[in-house]
Amino acid sequence: MMRRLPLLVLLISGTCVVLGQRPHKPEWSEREFVGQLEDLRQPRADDEIDQSYRLPTDTVPTHYTIRLHTNLHTGARAFTGAVDIHLDVIVPTGHITVHNRDLTIVSAALFAKQDDGLLVEFGFPEYGYDSRTEQLTFHAGQQLPLGSYVLTIEYTGLLQTSSNSGFFLKSYVNDEDERRYVGTTQFESTNARMAFPCYDEPLLKATHTLWITHSADYSAVSNMPAEAVEEAAGHEGFVTTKFGPTPKMSTYLLAFGVSDFAVIEDGQQQLYARPNAIHEAQFGLEAGVKILDALSEYTYVSYYDYMPKLSQMAIPDRGGGAMENWGLVKYAETGLLFNPSRNTYRTRKGIAVVIAHELAHQWFGDLVGPHWWSYIWLNEGFANLYGYIGADLAYPEERYWDLYAVENVHNAFGPDSSDTIRPMTQDATTPSGISGLFDSIAYDKSGSVINMFRTVLGDDNFRAGLKIYLTNRQLDGAVADDLYAGLQAAIDGKEVLPEGVTVKLLMDSWTTQPGYPVLNVRRNYDDGSVIVSQERFYSDKRVPNDNIWYIPYSFASASDPSFDDLSSFHWLAQKAERIAETGAAADDWLIFNKQQTGYYRVNYDAHNWLLIAQALQKDPSAIHRFNRAQLINDAFNLARADRHDMALALDLLTYLANETEYAPWAAANGVLTYFYDKLRGTAHYHDFIVYVDALVGKVFDGLGEFVAVPEDEPLLQKYLKQLITTWACRVGYTECLRQTSEALNTAVETNTPVHPDVQYVVYCYGLKGASDDVYRWLFNQMITSKNEAERQLLIDTLGCAQDREQLISLLSVAIGGNSELDSILSGERSRIVSSIYSAGRVGVEALFQALSNPEYAQEFVNRLGQGALNSVVSNAASRTNNEAELEQLENFLAALGDAVSADTVDAAMRTISTKEAWFKSYEGVRSTTYFADFSN
Ligand SMILES: *[C@@H]1O[C@H](CO)[C@@H](O)[C@H](O)[C@H]1NC(C)=O
Repeated sequence: MMRRLPLLVLLISGTCVVLGQRPHKPEWSEREFVGQLEDLRQPRADDEIDQSYRLPTDTVPTHYTIRLHTNLHTGARAFTGAVDIHLDVIVPTGHITVHNRDLTIVSAALFAKQDDGLLVEFGFPEYGYDSRTEQLTFHAGQQLPLGSYVLTIEYTGLLQTSSNSGFFLKSYVNDEDERRYVGTTQFESTNARMAFPCYDEPLLKATHTLWITHSADYSAVSNMPAEAVEEAAGHEGFVTTKFGPTPKMSTYLLAFGVSDFAVIEDGQQQLYARPNAIHEAQFGLEAGVKILDALSEYTYVSYYDYMPKLSQMAIPDRGGGAMENWGLVKYAETGLLFNPSRNTYRTRKGIAVVIAHELAHQWFGDLVGPHWWSYIWLNEGFANLYGYIGADLAYPEERYWDLYAVENVHNAFGPDSSDTIRPMTQDATTPSGISGLFDSIAYDKSGSVINMFRTVLGDDNFRAGLKIYLTNRQLDGAVADDLYAGLQAAIDGKEVLPEGVTVKLLMDSWTTQPGYPVLNVRRNYDDGSVIVSQERFYSDKRVPNDNIWYIPYSFASASDPSFDDLSSFHWLAQKAERIAETGAAADDWLIFNKQQTGYYRVNYDAHNWLLIAQALQKDPSAIHRFNRAQLINDAFNLARADRHDMALALDLLTYLANETEYAPWAAANGVLTYFYDKLRGTAHYHDFIVYVDALVGKVFDGLGEFVAVPEDEPLLQKYLKQLITTWACRVGYTECLRQTSEALNTAVETNTPVHPDVQYVVYCYGLKGASDDVYRWLFNQMITSKNEAERQLLIDTLGCAQDREQLISLLSVAIGGNSELDSILSGERSRIVSSIYSAGRVGVEALFQALSNPEYAQEFVNRLGQGALNSVVSNAASRTNNEAELEQLENFLAALGDAVSADTVDAAMRTISTKEAWFKSYEGVRSTTYFADFSN
């Protein structure tokens, strides 16, 4: 599953935001965990976990036959259902317990299955419901002997309209201006129970047969192909679509959809989308075919040995996210539909990676599922990693792999350096606890750790091990030991690992301990030896700890720059050890963790850091680009944690004037954004800008006419260009602002949008000083667009206006309810608000002005919810950098009065004092002094 994170939560911290795609990257690259981190701060030892949420183990399901009847084509939410649960009593019991959430039970009957298959009625059991555990228990009135039974339940339910979970309703407007409805599902992790009573735990796999009765004008799709579409007796205008039985699978993987969608096909794959968007489906279908083939080949396990078809479906108005249902993968439209004349390279990349992510799940999750949610990393870690590998295999020319470390490894390092973070393997039993497990540990860290072992075992061995694992556990559940066993079997007798060391021993040190290490490298320049040692890395402190990880390491040096050789590793299996000989001369630099395939940071003695910085100044290409990204990210974060000198870290970054690869720049972007957020609007800002100019200036000059997009421009060049030009325009380069404003004016005059790949920069910065007519033109581009990804991008740029009145009129769109705004999708209103405060100070002030009016603030809350107003306050606080801005904030809070809670105000004030305190901290003084010296 691809997470759909609450939009407003994502925007609180600016430090990791990739500039330019600010503030709303597509879901799959949108990775900040502000919200989840709060949850993770609780201690989560297994013995505190409430096991009463788990189902009793004396009965197990073998098959479900589900019949649903829906009128959703009219927009009606009510549906009826009947399910026959075929189950085995494996320990004699008088009770059968299944899950249910919000379904109303109409009747139930129990049958015993005789050896000849005949059903004998056993009676009508009484039942009771526990709303805490969501368990529905049927009492047979007597002990049921071992054997097979069928429990038949009739029920009614309502389609969800305010959440994207369970069986829910969406809609779109077709080309005849009619509203059409779409019924769709999202069952992971615990939402199958919202569509039919079931044993809703991942290990309780069963086959599923589904019949759906729906309007004859609509059609239904599910995991399996339809075997028949028959007129529904007694229901004029309705048909029943009957699907063949699924393979044995978890309930959370069942999926269906009822809509009037169009379809395109290629071989055994189909892609479903609304008819007025089907012309944007070609890339998704092509990518699906290429990637599924690539992954079938990679795993040596053919998808089509288990499933007769693969369908992908684009759900309108779903915002973000995607779900890997076996045979029927569903996406938000932004994750599947690509229109080359409207969508950007980022959308295309996002689609390729999310498709590969979901298709990787067809093996890791669908064919072999987790024994319990504690092993969700066996699903999401593999999908995270193979999302990039799969996209890279299908489109090698795009070099998607270059994005892996900066979008995942570096991203995992943030949350994973908190002292209350969970380990990869972690139990949870409540529905909210289980959804909390879908965090950066399950995705980014697990993918990074899996990639580390893929590298040390060698890709060939790893693939062989995966084949053993997938084959041994097919159609069943797996624990971490099953993975280790497969990998171990693939390398036995091959001397891949040191004598007496097992895959389990090594991997357990990474999967069962929280956090990750920093490898300290201390050189002896006289005898060429090195002492390596390890400690757990915390983001903001150094505390003694006994953690030991089995750390695979390798190194390159100035005289042996063997960055491409990832064939052999040493292991640090204790706190520290001495390497007698590195082969590096005293004036050679030494770099550990080649290509950053190991999931850890590396720190060096100050002299080696200096040698590295000098080498980068002389010739960046002497050091692998992935290691350049690593060095930037490590140097900065080690300095923040008091393990390195911030001035040396900032000095190291100055080589970037000669850097033209994206990965190191992406790492640097995090550093620059961190300081920008602190220094904008302060007396230190000018010094900082001088520093930014020294880094960005030469690279920007090299871009020339950046608003032009050459036909053959490489993907990574597009990423680099957006990053550099966004900084250039942000710090006010006249050439940057000239090009953007000219390009925007030309676009308005000729009524021709600029190339999508430069739209963000051109529109966002071209709006500086733009007339109301220009603004209205841009707004019309957005409001008339029927492409969701394009709308999102345009909303983000509309927030960039530098005119308060323009922004206030945009805000009125987010709040307004008149019919002309019918086309605003759910999620777009709050996106408008966040685009306004994210783009700059003017936006914050526009919000202050508008929302200081109590009636307006009330309307705002009525439309967007209290959370949105709280979020405006917290985001304004984190963008308050000087006395004048603080006064504005205080006036705003006074005007709001009790429209926001005291807690919200307190949190805002804490943010302000933390920001003020930074300037008096060692890090603050060291950094601002550095920038001051730099600018003189
Ligand atoms: C850029 O590279 C040139 C050599 O090609 C070097 O002389 C110069 O110092 C480098 N600039 C920086 C800022 O590292």
